[in-house]
Amino acid sequence: MLSSVSVIGLGKLGAPMAACFAARGFQVIAVDLDAQKVDAIGRGVPPVHEPGLAELLQECKGHLSATQDTEAAVRDSEATFIVVGTPSEPDGGFSLRYVIPTCEAIGRALRDKNSFHLVVLTSTVMPGSTGGEIKSVLERVSGKRCGEGFGLCYSPEFIALGTVIRDFYYPDFLLIGESDRRTGDILSEIYSRTCKNSPAIARMNFINAEITKLAVNTYITTKISYANMLARLCEKLPEADVSVVTNALGLDSRIGSKYLKGGVSYGGPCFPRDNRAFAALAERNGAFSDLAVATDRFNRAQIAAIADIVKNHQSGLQPIGILGLTYKPDTDVVEESFGLLLAQELASANLPVVVFDPSADLSRAFAAHKWVRIAASAEDCIAQSAPGCSRSAPARVFTPPSAWSSIAGARFRTWRVRRVSTTSASVPRLAPPSLWRPLPQRTRKPSAS
Ligand SMILES: NC(=O)c1ccc[n+]([C@@H]2O[C@H](COP(=O)([O-])OP(=O)(O)OC[C@H]3O[C@@H](n4cnc5c(N)ncnc54)[C@H](O)[C@@H]3O)[C@@H](O)[C@H]2O)c1
Repeated sequence: MLSSVSVIGLGKLGAPMAACFAARGFQVIAVDLDAQKVDAIGRGVPPVHEPGLAELLQECKGHLSATQDTEAAVRDSEATFIVVGTPSEPDGGFSLRYVIPTCEAIGRALRDKNSFHLVVLTSTVMPGSTGGEIKSVLERVSGKRCGEGFGLCYSPEFIALGTVIRDFYYPDFLLIGESDRRTGDILSEIYSRTCKNSPAIARMNFINAEITKLAVNTYITTKISYANMLARLCEKLPEADVSVVTNALGLDSRIGSKYLKGGVSYGGPCFPRDNRAFAALAERNGAFSDLAVATDRFNRAQIAAIADIVKNHQSGLQPIGILGLTYKPDTDVVEESFGLLLAQELASANLPVVVFDPSADLSRAFAAHKWVRIAASAEDCIAQSAPGCSRSAPARVFTPPSAWSSIAGARFRTWRVRRVSTTSASVPRLAPPSLWRPLPQRTRKPSAS
C-alpha cells in the first residue's frame, strides 16, 4: 500500500491538499518554488488563506515536510500530485508554462527510479494536454513509457475556496482520467483512504476527464446565469419576484435548487475562466459553443446592469459604498469578484466609490483606481457613503458576498444585492425589487456558494 506522496505547488489548492493527505496519515513532501511558502509549511503556518488550514497543519506535524526541490521530492515519494498554476491565455485556453517545467523535473527524477511512480495532474488543463504534451515530456525526459515505468492520471478537484478542506474530504464524486487500469486503481485507493465519505468514482480516459472538468463548471455558470436572466425579467414585471420563481423551479428534481438564485455575477478563479476555456476549446475545434459564449457575455453584462441601478440612485457627490469585495465568503480572493468589478465600473464612470472588506488586500486590488477610497471599517464605509447622516440614516451601500460574519453590529444578507443598514430604519431601495427582502433581525453568516 502506497504511503508517501509529493504535492507540487502550494497555492490555494495545493497547500490544503498537502495538509489533507498528511492529516490522513500519508507521508507528504510539499514543494513550491516560492521559498516563503516552503518556509511557512516548515513552520506549520498556512502559506495561503483557507479556513481550517492552520488547525490541520498542527494535526499533521511529523507527516508533512516542505522543499523547493521537485526532483528530490519525487525520488522520495511514491506518487506526485501536480497542482501548479495554469494561467489563462488570451483566447481563454490554459497555459502549461508552469506544468511543463514541473513535468521535466519529475521526468529527471523518474529516470533514476527503479520503482513504479504515479503522477497525478490536478491542475486544470485544456483537453488534449494530459495525453499530449504532458505525457510526452514525462516519457521523453524519464526515458520510460507511460503505463510501465510510471502511470499518469488527470484528476482535478471540485473544490470551492473557503471550503477546500471539507470539499476535499467529502467530494460529491471523484474524477479520474487514467493512462491504464493499474494506475487508476492506485489513485482510487489513495482517495479511498483520504476521503471521509464514499464518493462515486468516474474513471475514464484523459480527454473525457479533461472535458468533464470544464463541463461541470460551464454547466454551473449556465445555471447561475439562467437564474440571473430570470431576475432581470422579474425586475421588469410588477409584482414578479425571482426568488418565488426559483424556489419553485428548484423543487423539480430535474433542475434542483443549487446555484439557482437570482443575484450578482459569478466570479473567482475558476468559474469565469473554465467557462471561457470551454468556449475556446469549441472554437479551436470548430464546434458550436454559443451557450458558453452567451453565458460569459451575460455574466459581464450583469455588472453593468447592476451598476446602472446604482447610478440611478446616486445623488450628487455622495460616494457609493461597497461592502464585500471577495468573490465569496471565507476567502481573500477578489479575482473577477462582483464587488471589485462593480467598484471599477462605477469608478470608470467617475463616480466616487468607497469600499471595505476585512479579508481582501484592497490597496493592491485598487492600485490602478485612485478614485476608489478604502474605508477603515464597515461602519466607516457606511458613514462615508452617507455623510452627515446618523447611523440610522440611509446608506448607499451594496453588499456582495464576503466575510460578513466578521463584522459585528451590522446586519447583512448577502449573496445577492441587498439593501443594508446598521438599523432597521427604512433605507432607499438600491437593489432591484425582485432581489429585495426585509433584512433579518440578527447578524447572519451568508451561505457559501
Ligand atoms: N483555487 C481554486 O479554487 C482551484 C479549484 C480547482 C482547480 N484549481 C486549479 O488548480 C491549479 C492551481 O490553482 P491554485 O489556485 O492553487 O494556484 P496558485 O496560483 O494559488 O498556486 C500555484 C502554486 O504553484 C507554484 N508553482 C508554480 N510553478 C512551480 C514549479 N515549477 N514548481 C513548484 N511550484 C510551482 C506557485 O509558486 C504557486 O505557489 C490551477 O490549475 C487551477 O486552475 C484551482
